[in-house]
Amino acid sequence: FNVDASSQSARVMPDNLFGIFFEEINHAGAGGLWAELVSNRGFEAGGKNTPSIFDPWVKIGNDSNILVSTDRISTLERNEVALKMEVLCDNDDNSNPCPSQGVGVYNPGFWGMNIEDGQVYNVVLYILSVDSIDLSVSLTSSDGSQNLAQHTIEADEQEFSSWTRIEFELESSGTNSNSRLQITTSKCGTIWLDQVSVMPSDTFMGHGFRKDLASMLADIKPRFLRFPGGSYSQGRRLANAFRWKSTVGSWEQRPGHFNDVWNYWTDDGLGFFEFLQLAEDLGALPVWVIHNGISLNDQINPSSLPSFVEDVLDGIEFARGDPESTWGSVRTEMGHPNPFELKFISIGNQECGNKNYKANYLKFYTAIKAAYPDMKVVTNCDGSNGQLDHPADLYDVHVYTSASDMFSKSQLFDKTSRNGPKAFVSEYAVTGNDAGKGTLVAALAEAGFLMGLERNSDILEMASCAPLFVNNNDRRFNPDAIVFNSSMQFGTPSYWMQQFFKYSNSATYHPSTIQASNYPSLLASALTWEDTDSNRKYLKLKIVNYGSKVVSLKMSISGLETKISSGGLKTILTSSKLSDENSFEEPNKVVPVMTNISRAGETMSVAIAPYSLTSFDLLLE
Ligand code: AHR
Repeated sequence: FNVDASSQSARVMPDNLFGIFFEEINHAGAGGLWAELVSNRGFEAGGKNTPSIFDPWVKIGNDSNILVSTDRISTLERNEVALKMEVLCDNDDNSNPCPSQGVGVYNPGFWGMNIEDGQVYNVVLYILSVDSIDLSVSLTSSDGSQNLAQHTIEADEQEFSSWTRIEFELESSGTNSNSRLQITTSKCGTIWLDQVSVMPSDTFMGHGFRKDLASMLADIKPRFLRFPGGSYSQGRRLANAFRWKSTVGSWEQRPGHFNDVWNYWTDDGLGFFEFLQLAEDLGALPVWVIHNGISLNDQINPSSLPSFVEDVLDGIEFARGDPESTWGSVRTEMGHPNPFELKFISIGNQECGNKNYKANYLKFYTAIKAAYPDMKVVTNCDGSNGQLDHPADLYDVHVYTSASDMFSKSQLFDKTSRNGPKAFVSEYAVTGNDAGKGTLVAALAEAGFLMGLERNSDILEMASCAPLFVNNNDRRFNPDAIVFNSSMQFGTPSYWMQQFFKYSNSATYHPSTIQASNYPSLLASALTWEDTDSNRKYLKLKIVNYGSKVVSLKMSISGLETKISSGGLKTILTSSKLSDENSFEEPNKVVPVMTNISRAGETMSVAIAPYSLTSFDLLLE
């Protein structure tokens, strides 16, 4: 294995080479990264026609002591549906006392709320009642028997006679990952509820992202965040697409929408602003996938195109416009006067084959470039095999395939023209039988693919895997990089594989050759990178062995301007079977294992384990 580390052959890789792609799929956001614990907090999920279904809220009590229904009574303009509790029982009335636990409603969250001992939860709810009330708001176990935290709201007839927002904290005295929120009373009267929210006070950077999940993202040092989808960004039907203007402003005013691609309601707590905030918090550049007028099953009338283009220009102004501009001021009101660093816009997701795509694309492209000449515009027509017939800064490529094909696709861009726009592999994943729910073989094949991208990073600008998250209770797509439930999470082997590539952004690529006779299953990549915190420089050699045999290699590094210090670190990702996966029971079955290298140098003899990804990190003096 020969590495030419001379400066003449070196090439600096793109700053934003590896990032992440977040899609609202598999309850990745609602019931996932977005830490809101109440599902259907505004009672809007059942639609605007009332009385509506208010799942997953459940009535506590029976028809003789409480009636629960919905109606359009809220003063929140875009969010009119509210819940009505008509309490018929009363503990002061011997003829119809309430059951001992009271009557009311509970919300089980998204497959159980994770409530932790000593943690504080911020509760917001809107109340309307012309009766005197005595309401208990509590966090309890899933059957209501264990009380973890409680707050009482007592009021006379006047206090809530018009809609009133109340806010308080609940501090939990116990831990239960399958908790629920209960709102109960033992006093007769009518109480309306709306916009009931429970947020843990401890979130990633204080911005509402579930800490454990966001930290896993931070750990792979993504340089960009593509959002909000995928197909989600287009919607199956126009009426259900993600439209950014409905997702900004105060959360109570967001109407929410039905994610008709992946079949669930989202209240859009994780909206356009929050995506931009997440990107900033991760040190990543946002890549906004806009709605280009084409949904999966329908599309706009061409006469509406100008309003869609205007919408996108407004969105850019919201993200990076002057704090006092029309839309920039909305961002300012939301607490972020400084512009976000929005520099990339994808004109849709996978619509190149649609006959209207190019005409629509050009309208967006022209308008965006006229207003924001520095904005990088991404087309979703693949330009890897021939010249594009329309202008673009980047072209989008999606690769979903078997493991062996993914491995061989390390050569995907070898023959691509070196002129013209650069490639953005915004979605890649081994899928199908090989992939299971995230296998070792998928990770190894993807590692080979990424090495090919590094080699071709003169024309390959960015890459991200798909999908990123799955709530284990709602698997819509396999595999995914990070698996979670209400309280736990683990990375699939593909997630851990990405840790091997997190120092590639802005690193210096060095050409290498690997000679292992009659053994085509090895791929390698070499780079040097600098840890700016410690000012230390490393040579990183990665080798994937996609075959069943141990391979003995003599590594030889030439042309280095600095010496290799004697120590180093070897990291290996492997397991006993190709089909091995991580799970809640065995989250660390396939994870990187590190050992020290005692004798590092410009020549080294190493044995590369079968079916493995190995990285040698050598400190430069
Ligand atoms: O990543 C899952 C889906 O696969 C995306 O929504 C879509 O872009 C692709 O087809």
